[in-house]
Amino acid sequence: MARVLTGIQSSGRPHLGNILGAILPAIELSKNPENESFFFIADLHSLTTLKDGALRAEYVRAIAATWLAFGFDYKKNVFWRQSRVQEHTELAWYLNCFTPFPMLANATAYKEKSEKLSDVNAGLFTYPVLQAADILLFDANIIPVGKDQKQHLEMSKDIAVRFNQLAGEEILVLPEAKIDDRIMTIPGIDGQKMSKSYNNYIDIFLPENELKKVTKKILSDSKALEEPKDPDSDVTFKLFSLIASESEIAEMRSNYTNGGYGYGHAKQALLACILEKFDEPRRIFNYYMENNEELESILVAGEEKARSVAQHTIGKVRNVLGFSS
Ligand code: ADP
Ligand code: TRP
Repeated sequence: MARVLTGIQSSGRPHLGNILGAILPAIELSKNPENESFFFIADLHSLTTLKDGALRAEYVRAIAATWLAFGFDYKKNVFWRQSRVQEHTELAWYLNCFTPFPMLANATAYKEKSEKLSDVNAGLFTYPVLQAADILLFDANIIPVGKDQKQHLEMSKDIAVRFNQLAGEEILVLPEAKIDDRIMTIPGIDGQKMSKSYNNYIDIFLPENELKKVTKKILSDSKALEEPKDPDSDVTFKLFSLIASESEIAEMRSNYTNGGYGYGHAKQALLACILEKFDEPRRIFNYYMENNEELESILVAGEEKARSVAQHTIGKVRNVLGFSS
């Protein structure tokens, strides 16, 4: 039995890139009966960049509702908010004291963020330590993440090794990143990587009229309707290919190459495809967004399960460090 663990920051509503690149592959892994999955909402991590509490609470609900909308089995697995299980922050402090300063100073994600952001706070710097605590608290074996998280996972492992050296035994389980190279980078409406920080994302849960406005904005060249078009260099076609069936993709491809088919037609087809393929997730998402109490009770039940595992690990760590009563 392998323990799979991953977290998503509550720094925005999940977009198509997060869903295809992170949420769906993790849910797939969770369906393997050999695995036990621990999926959480990294709301403490989101504080490094998002200070507005009301917005964070809304994003937490949206992320939770997305996992549920795509069928994550929260009863069989463990599903919680990081901030509600205080052992995350307790372990993060201990691990801070096992983390060499230069290791954090060399972190690529930190360097990139500190160049881009005006608020370069200490939380941003120690972000990987909290992430290590998230993982090590639950004896997690497999951590499905995007390529950008590779270094953070190496740091988690390194920090665990340092702690275990002091303890003289393997108190903290060494985690392995699972980076699926087959998962492609989903392009945003401007053709760059889809990301909330580039404001180029597609929120598939928007009402139809708003979703239509977003799909209309997708970048295209200025070829006239009659002209043949190259599907492989077009963003609408790329997005369509990620969600449509093989026959639908083949049909759109020939429409492009034949000519007489405008980008407006392709955008309409993409919108229709999103509405059709994600009809059920859209309904479940809206249901949970409107039934807050039900969502809350699912998260509270998950917290209890997470806490009992976390308390076991933190007890062992406190013992090693001389913090137990
Ligand atoms: P964002 O770039 O919008 O801030 P995050 O960094 O919060 O997204 O990413 C959360 C998860 O979604 C990560 O596992 C990341 O690898 C995945 N992800 C984000 N954007 C994309 C994308 N465009 N294509 C594929 N996966 C993505
Ligand atoms: N840093 C991850 C990201 O930005 C989110 C995260 C926080 C995480 N804690 C984690 C991912 C623990 C995996 C395991 O995508």
